[in-house]
Amino acid sequence: MYLTREEEALYDGELGWANQTCMRILVRLGELFGAQRLIPIGSAHVSGVSFKTLGDAPIEFLKTLADSGARVKVRTTLNPQSLDSQYLRQRLREGLQEPQLQILSQFERMGLTESLTCTPYYLHRSAKDSHHAWAESSAVVYSNSVLGAWTNREGGPSALAAAIIGKTPDYGIHRAENRVPNVAVKVETKLRDETELGALGIFLGKTLGDKIPAIKGLPKTQRDELKQLCAAIATTGMTNMFHMDSATRTREHERIGVDSNQIEHTVEDLSTASVDQPDLVFLGCPHCSLKEMERIARLVEGKRVKAGMEFWVCTSCHIKQAAVDCVRKIESAGGHVLDGVCTVVSWTEELGIETIMTNSAKTAYYAPTLNKAEAILAPVRDCLKAALQG
Ligand code: F3S
Repeated sequence: MYLTREEEALYDGELGWANQTCMRILVRLGELFGAQRLIPIGSAHVSGVSFKTLGDAPIEFLKTLADSGARVKVRTTLNPQSLDSQYLRQRLREGLQEPQLQILSQFERMGLTESLTCTPYYLHRSAKDSHHAWAESSAVVYSNSVLGAWTNREGGPSALAAAIIGKTPDYGIHRAENRVPNVAVKVETKLRDETELGALGIFLGKTLGDKIPAIKGLPKTQRDELKQLCAAIATTGMTNMFHMDSATRTREHERIGVDSNQIEHTVEDLSTASVDQPDLVFLGCPHCSLKEMERIARLVEGKRVKAGMEFWVCTSCHIKQAAVDCVRKIESAGGHVLDGVCTVVSWTEELGIETIMTNSAKTAYYAPTLNKAEAILAPVRDCLKAALQG
């Protein structure tokens, strides 16, 4: 891999251990995937923040990096953690909180803003065709497919290394030739809601592996609903982008049709619950936008969450602050707006939650393994029907 004089100095350790370690991570990755050089990035997004999914092993590494003076060179956001700033902090035992705070404090020392969201694109808009290093697969697919900004699917360590160096290896879908679709997908049924868009994603992720589809037959829909497709396609496969412009030409002639049976079966497979009534109704995977908050607030206004039922809406602290009125309405109804967290990366089993109802195919997919819970997958209106009295 070609390195500039300045990059070589970093690689050789002339600017300290932290920079050297990060350069070595990036160069190793570049060599593995045939990159010729490093390219500058506009931002990074780091995953591996939740103590629940991370464990405490990386705390020492993060601390050593921070002690050695590592500081991010580009705007860098963080994925959700395992607690919110209020509700779960009161309900979860101390032993789960302390390691989480330690993880956050090391990131903070390195200059990472405490954004704690999987929808960093609501905080800062990436320019079309700009290059980034994002971990969090749902945001990667959204960035490439909906926003037109370019990022590979990074792991937590490589995204952090890219943030500290300000560059990423030029391979994968940082290269235009690798963004050309190589399979044509025709959706042969009318997708009725965000849940079915998510089911399409789960089905395609399993079917496509890492191929890039040009999808025809998607409903004219809001960007917020496309998040469900983006999150789900990355949950079951390695696809990092899709095209939805009907004029896009595919490089190859492989064609896949998706019909109503495949969508229905996928929804059924994801709905594993043996009971009708969930313990928790959860909206906000991926984290809610302001518009989604407004819609939920409108639907719950003046109503009451059923006794004994948990109702959570997850978003970033930035959206929560911007949606004060919505938060008031949701909380007056007995729900909780949790910032910087989601059910998948939190300790729902500690709270006795055994059944989760959600509109997110990604959450329904992970609930049995990561939350030890059964799932009910249904659109927002049905989730609210289950959560609210009357
Ligand atoms: Fe985000 Fe958690 Fe879903 S990180 S994409 S809300 S599983």
